[in-house]
Amino acid sequence: MLTHIAISFIFFNICYGFFNNNILKRNIFKMSSSDNPPELWKLLSRNLKNTARDWFINRAERVGIDWNGLVLENKKDMQKLKELYNSSSDPNMIYPSYYTQPFHGYDTGNLNWDAALEGEAATLSMAVNYWKEANPVKTQDWLRYNVTNNIKNYIHENTPHLETNNILDVGCSVGISTEFLYKTFREAENVNGLDLSPFFVAMAKLRAEKFDFPIKYFHKNAEVMNNIHDNSYEVVVCNFIFHELPEQATINIIKEVNRILKPGGIIAIVDLNPKVVNDNLLLSKFRKWAFEVTEPHIYGYYKRDLKKLLEDNLFLNVQTTRNDPINTIWMGIKLDTVLSIDQPKKSEKNEETINIYSPQRKMLMDYA
Ligand SMILES: C[S@@+](CC[C@H](N)C(=O)[O-])C[C@H]1O[C@@H](n2cnc3c(N)ncnc32)[C@H](O)[C@@H]1O
Repeated sequence: MLTHIAISFIFFNICYGFFNNNILKRNIFKMSSSDNPPELWKLLSRNLKNTARDWFINRAERVGIDWNGLVLENKKDMQKLKELYNSSSDPNMIYPSYYTQPFHGYDTGNLNWDAALEGEAATLSMAVNYWKEANPVKTQDWLRYNVTNNIKNYIHENTPHLETNNILDVGCSVGISTEFLYKTFREAENVNGLDLSPFFVAMAKLRAEKFDFPIKYFHKNAEVMNNIHDNSYEVVVCNFIFHELPEQATINIIKEVNRILKPGGIIAIVDLNPKVVNDNLLLSKFRKWAFEVTEPHIYGYYKRDLKKLLEDNLFLNVQTTRNDPINTIWMGIKLDTVLSIDQPKKSEKNEETINIYSPQRKMLMDYA
């Protein structure tokens, strides 16, 4: 056992040293334009994913998240989960190759029960290090309510007459981001979520039943949102999905969101600020590495200009707002051809603004 740990430790250090080598990084960047991650990433990821995963779980437990307890609690509902899986998964779904890569330390990515059972604990641990000396429930609340406040503020400033009756969460995972949308847009008639993992959709549905949320969830590929009509939603939010996508899938989803939005409706993309993460401005080197080794499409994401992609795909008044120490929101309005005279023009705000509403504003500003 000790020998095994020692060998893993030495192997880890060699690879970690390599991985932080700039020449190696440049080569990974060069190779990472396809739907599949580069061979070198696959090699590192295969050998080190368990170390990275253990590190994430230990970190979560250290800040008081009862990872195993939450998983065991979810496991008690396995029978119900399987029924929900059978009744909601699309048997004709064809999974794109970028999606069937190992993700987050799971060999079958998001397509397995373990990832769904651990979804709640993993989501809770997302923001634990964003703010000092705060518990995971608080940091999750701050992160999520900053998102909804930023969306509301953008609507108020840019399209105040928009009635937010229909809201969609794209890439909703086990439903936690959708639940926060439901809790803050209480006036909405429909709050829906969709995800490509039928395991996650089953878990999201179970949570909606348990907590009595009238949210509807669908198993769909966001690149082709079959059976969702044109002009259906006023607000579409994509929470933390874009860093998991290659370029073409990103463009396909932006176009598809434009199709299903009502004219004058808004898109909000919440995700890592590529510069903050890639330039290592806030994360420790180890944390950055442990994250990257479980994310097959992250290097392409660092290079992407989401503001430009939104503008290229007919979104107006695109604004970039810092949501918290690590994440940014890109928001834009779907061109309203009928009211085009009153359309907001291209945003004059090129700089990222900082709108962080959490009580720890001062502390956040120190970070930013
Ligand atoms: C990091 S999770 C985001 C979870 C959730 N939105 C949140 O904020 O907690 C990204 C999600 O995007 C989903 N996803 C990735 N590609 C997708 C696609 N093409 N269509 C639909 N969902 C997709 C994944 O299955 C995963 O659940």
